[in-house]
Amino acid sequence: MDHPALSPDQLADIHAEAFEAPWDKAAFARLLDSAGVSLLGDERGFILTRTIADEAEILTLAVRPSCRRQGLARLLVEHAVVATATLGAQRMFLEVAENNAAAIGLYTVCGFEQVGLRKNYYTRPDGSSEHALVMVLNFLQ
Ligand SMILES: CC(C)(COP(=O)(O)OP(=O)(O)OC[C@H]1O[C@@H](n2cnc3c(N)ncnc32)[C@H](O)[C@@H]1OP(=O)(O)O)[C@@H](O)C(=O)NCCC(=O)NCCS
Repeated sequence: MDHPALSPDQLADIHAEAFEAPWDKAAFARLLDSAGVSLLGDERGFILTRTIADEAEILTLAVRPSCRRQGLARLLVEHAVVATATLGAQRMFLEVAENNAAAIGLYTVCGFEQVGLRKNYYTRPDGSSEHALVMVLNFLQ
């Protein structure tokens, strides 16, 4: 990806404010160099997607706690839908931890529906595991 809006350092910084097990700068640098990966956002928050053929996936989405409940994540998801559709996607998938009420609320408002459950998908820092919901948004209804 050329000229990303945010550096790997900035992405890691925002991610660390949003997740218990954040991704580091090197992980973001690798992702930004990967095929099909798109980044949208600014210093308040960002969304990272990957588009392969007609399927897009939300790799991660994070908004700084001080910037939440102002509609930013919803705007990022809506813009990511347009951006990935332009790349050829017809649907967007994501995985979300089943106890992440904020994210599930957001995705539901954005029109995503649950289509699956991945058992013990996430391992938390304390070693416990958590199921993930698989959600999808079909662009052409
Ligand atoms: C999930 C997250 C990205 C939402 O960001 P945000 O900018 O606050 O979300 P928005 O302001 O766009 O919210 C849009 C809608 O989503 C729902 N929503 C957002 N946060 C919510 C919460 N804490 N509880 C319930 N619903 C919530 C609401 O319907 C909200 O609309 P409203 O504010 O008019 O009620 C943010 O809380 C975050 O970064 N969390 C930690 C990281 C994370 O969980 N990422 C997603 C992983 S899959």
